[in-house]
Amino acid sequence: MKFIVAIDGTAASGKGTLAKKTANHFGFKYLDTGILYRVVAYYLKSAEIHSEISKQNVQDSLRLLINKDFQLSHLRNEEISLKASIISKNKIVRDNLLTYQREFAMQEGGTVLDGRDIGTVVCPNADIKIFVDADIEIRAKRRYDQYLKKNSNSNSNSNSNLNLSDIIDDLTKRDYIDKNRQLSPLVSAKDAYLLDTSNITSDDGLKKIIQIISRKLEK
Ligand code: DC
Repeated sequence: MKFIVAIDGTAASGKGTLAKKTANHFGFKYLDTGILYRVVAYYLKSAEIHSEISKQNVQDSLRLLINKDFQLSHLRNEEISLKASIISKNKIVRDNLLTYQREFAMQEGGTVLDGRDIGTVVCPNADIKIFVDADIEIRAKRRYDQYLKKNSNSNSNSNSNLNLSDIIDDLTKRDYIDKNRQLSPLVSAKDAYLLDTSNITSDDGLKKIIQIISRKLEK
């Protein structure tokens, strides 16, 4: 059985957690497509490539993800977040990641992909499309709480200077780039269910998504 769930939305809207839990619930395979853009950003930064990005660069970046010594934590910081948003405007990057994402989506047994353009460009024929969003202050506060938790767990001082207004600025910048780029901008597909997570818990959001998918699977 092929069954594709496309979950798009703004940064820090909670779409990643919802997508992962949805995949777990139904036993579907899960792909966080943001990680693909992040690893390309990380690779280009490490290799000091600032222009003329090639297909080979994208392929070499993806290879990092299958290296078991590579730490995904390198990809989850504000610098890489912003850089990923910037390099995601590039056509060579998008075209080469598109093939990878479509192949993943078409696997048997059900798949969930989360990102920015899954329901509009990567899988326009997805069985279910969800668009997740929340007020920017709420998204920023959630991100800030994650940082505080991470720093207190690791006793690290990194990001200790980060404050809420920095995060609001950062998310505003990323929203702007993601929504206004020429290629595959962040926009809800016309046939997507809109899920505003501003005033609901992650569990409530998950329940709603499970309900939508179950209804479709029963048909
Ligand atoms: O979901 P994320 O925050 O990890 O994504 C990082 C950046 O990657 C995001 O700002 C834009 C880009 N991206 C994209 O252009 N298309 C996707 N399907 C996923 C991410």
